[in-house]
Amino acid sequence: MATDTRPTMSVPITKPSLTEEEAQAPLESIRSGWVTQGPKVVEFEKAIANYVGAAEGIATSSCTTALHMALVGLGVGAGDEVIVPSFSFIASANVILYTGATVVFADIDPRTYNVDPADVERKVTSRTKAILPVDQIGLTCDMDAINQIARDRGLVVVEDAAPTIGEKYKGRMVGANAEAVCFSFHPRKVITTGEGGMIMTNDSALATRLRTLRQHGMNVSDLARHNADRVIIEEYKELGFNYRMTDIQASIGIVQVRRLPELLRQRRERAARYNAELPRIRGISIPFVPKYAEHTYQSYCVRLTAECRLDREELMTNLLRRGIATRRGVMASHLEDVYVKRYGKVHLPVTEEATRTTMLIPLYASMTDDEQSYVIDALREELGAA
Ligand SMILES: Cc1ncc(COP(=O)(O)O)c(C=O)c1O
Repeated sequence: MATDTRPTMSVPITKPSLTEEEAQAPLESIRSGWVTQGPKVVEFEKAIANYVGAAEGIATSSCTTALHMALVGLGVGAGDEVIVPSFSFIASANVILYTGATVVFADIDPRTYNVDPADVERKVTSRTKAILPVDQIGLTCDMDAINQIARDRGLVVVEDAAPTIGEKYKGRMVGANAEAVCFSFHPRKVITTGEGGMIMTNDSALATRLRTLRQHGMNVSDLARHNADRVIIEEYKELGFNYRMTDIQASIGIVQVRRLPELLRQRRERAARYNAELPRIRGISIPFVPKYAEHTYQSYCVRLTAECRLDREELMTNLLRRGIATRRGVMASHLEDVYVKRYGKVHLPVTEEATRTTMLIPLYASMTDDEQSYVIDALREELGAA
């Protein structure tokens, strides 16, 4: 008789937390007929700005478009260099190429996985225009150190905070610690609108320019024209984009941001359990959280140490057979063809080691105790006790 080898449980890498309230939220927009960027986007922008303590929020179609537009809005273009960590999702570097500027990769700190300020300092040249630090995996960068370099060298800072909405840096919410801070609302992030992003800034002139750039460089919004009691002929003074969020998405976001504190609490509770139990398994090291930060645990990233008895692909395969999804840790963008072809071989030893040895394991707000026990037990069985 054949043995049944099907896994007893299936645990995804992540799951968005969406309720009936989010399902109902877009109805008002749909019934009103105003489905593109309109009043719900304005309401969502205000809700996020209030939450993170920034003066302005400019909603966009994704974090990628937010980052691109923030760079353009701050004057980055051909002939400039922008310093960015390679250890990030490739979009963090790609947005620099979109502007025509040159990507300059910096290495990371081996414990936080965030860009190493000392390497940023080393990479500054007379052509450097901006620094684009990334709050990797849900842990904010050491923003005071980055901002200090920027002040000393006359650079602008665009913080890629894709995974860190709701996180604090030295007690200050992420969202107001750089000239422009960009969030993502992709389903793998802490809150979601399906796709979506937002630029936070305290500079009202920049916010006005970004709102114009977001809709083709048009000097009045569709909503303003719709509500006007006179004819308005719009103007286009510079090249813009269509980077708008829709009211359908924003309606969902308004519910999600209300639920954000609870979603973060649940993620952190799950992470605390991993932090307590995983050190008892051989060959696994848990995420490091410096004193200046919290962690949103957008992902839970472990490092496989020299004592790990399986190599990473073998471990990931064995876990998959048990129904547990994992992902390699974060990619190293400088090793991808798109960058190798442009810049040749760049050597970033800490990044290269981290990309080889990190692995993401399942974590999401609605993860049950049983699902988490299943993951922890599977890791213990595969790797043995410490
Ligand atoms: C660090 C980082 N930056 C940027 C992005 C791009 O975000 P989006 O998918 O909203 O464009 C991601 C998405 O995974 C990310 O992790």
